[in-house]
Amino acid sequence: MTEGDVGDVGNRVRIFDTTLRDGEQAPGIALTRAEKVEIAEQLSRLSVDIIEAGFPISSQGEFEAVSEIASSVRGPVIAALARTTEGDIRRAAEALKGAERWRIHTFISTSDIQMTAMLRMSNREVLDAIVDNVKLAVSYTEDVEFSAQDATRTELEFLLECYRVAVGAGATTINVPDTVGYATPTEFGELVRIVREAVPDHVVVSTHCHNDLGLAVANSLAGIENGARQVEVAVNGIGERAGNCSLEEIAMVVRTRGEHLGVRHGLNLKEITRTSRLVSMTTGYSVQPNKAVVGSSAFAHESGIHQHGVLSNRATYEIMDPVEIGLEGNRIVLGKHSGRHAFVDALAKLGIALPDEQLNRAFARFKDLADRKISLTDQDLEAIVSEEVGAGKEDVLVLESLQTGGGTHLAPTATVRLRRGEEVIEESAMGDGMIDAACGAIQRAAGVEARLITFNVSSVTGGSDALGDVVVQLEVDGRRVTGRGVATDVVEASARAYLAAINRALRVAAGDTPSSTEVTP
Ligand code: KIV
Ligand code: ZN
Repeated sequence: MTEGDVGDVGNRVRIFDTTLRDGEQAPGIALTRAEKVEIAEQLSRLSVDIIEAGFPISSQGEFEAVSEIASSVRGPVIAALARTTEGDIRRAAEALKGAERWRIHTFISTSDIQMTAMLRMSNREVLDAIVDNVKLAVSYTEDVEFSAQDATRTELEFLLECYRVAVGAGATTINVPDTVGYATPTEFGELVRIVREAVPDHVVVSTHCHNDLGLAVANSLAGIENGARQVEVAVNGIGERAGNCSLEEIAMVVRTRGEHLGVRHGLNLKEITRTSRLVSMTTGYSVQPNKAVVGSSAFAHESGIHQHGVLSNRATYEIMDPVEIGLEGNRIVLGKHSGRHAFVDALAKLGIALPDEQLNRAFARFKDLADRKISLTDQDLEAIVSEEVGAGKEDVLVLESLQTGGGTHLAPTATVRLRRGEEVIEESAMGDGMIDAACGAIQRAAGVEARLITFNVSSVTGGSDALGDVVVQLEVDGRRVTGRGVATDVVEASARAYLAAINRALRVAAGDTPSSTEVTP
């Protein structure tokens, strides 16, 4: 639905999704161009109002990813970020020109601390930069957003002056970022109210809240209650440090309490679960089980009293309908006798369509796992696909075999065989445990120095035959990368995750992902 379709424009909260820009700035995420386009297509199915596709000046790969999204994804407005400099704005406009509807989002720091330490600019120079560059952006498109970075730590009179000159120069959306996640809901709501009153009615006031104190959703909500009609969000709340306001949480607050709030949004809620899973799969950032709305326990009832209540009437303990957000039960779908047709069909039911090459590899993985496991659920299938999608089009190194040895009184050892094109590399290592030994052997075979930052192991479903699901974050050459692996055996899942992260680092080093970013806001 477009804004033109709705009678109550004043009560409509626009959903500005920044998963592909601010979200992608989360440590360890390095999406390929194809992954970015896939996420943008899914965001369009979810009917977000605006997709912030990236920051085109930051690298050639980023520029190309934004251009491709602009020329291929239809529905939402496509936005690109630019500092208030001529070079940034021209580059953003160039990247966006293939879009049906597009927005330049320009920003500059306005707090004393950031102006002094980062910009070395006076108040006058900042105001001039805003006027000149908003005007330049308006010469390309009528849809221009201005953000005062670190607004919540900016001296109020100066902040309002920045917004006034931006509006005077033609900005139609004014964004109030809580860049460092410092504000409390009462303070933030009050700031939004003051900004709302300081700018003309036709200008949309927006929130952009970071989650350093866990208040991003609460602050965004306070913004809405005080007149903001755009919220900037990221799927699963990913983003710099502790992340951004989570799309699914604010979406369901507005849906569930819309009557009380007097606002609504235009999201196609059925796509929420699928969007969350796609972002988790491609970024390697798993969703914590107890996360509101999209966590695996969000609709699970453990206590007997709760179960009894829910069985007689769901509304006793559920304030949202899981079916409304596209969450279906955990169905057993396939087994070792299932063929390619059934596999493709099951993926289609999950809304997953893979290019041929990835489909072949996912099917081969499925067959391998189905031989070792009696039946695979839709969650298992998603995990398998996630591993393949995360692996990228062509892995630099492929795990051919892994053997582990040792035991209670013997030092754990592992031997791996990796393939790089025609070459096969075999290496062994000892470690504190089997997983440590396997990762050590992979590191040797890959010839890469990697430091393990985080290691998370979970099971895809319940039961002792469940697939192990491992997500690791490594630091390679000063850059953080993530990898995910699933297998019936956790040592193998760990080795796969470790190798996936190393492959990602090798692809980033080869400039194969848009995230070889030189500048980030
Ligand atoms: O957090 C922030 O201030 C930003 C701006 C670029 C909007 O991400
Ligand atoms: Zn931000």
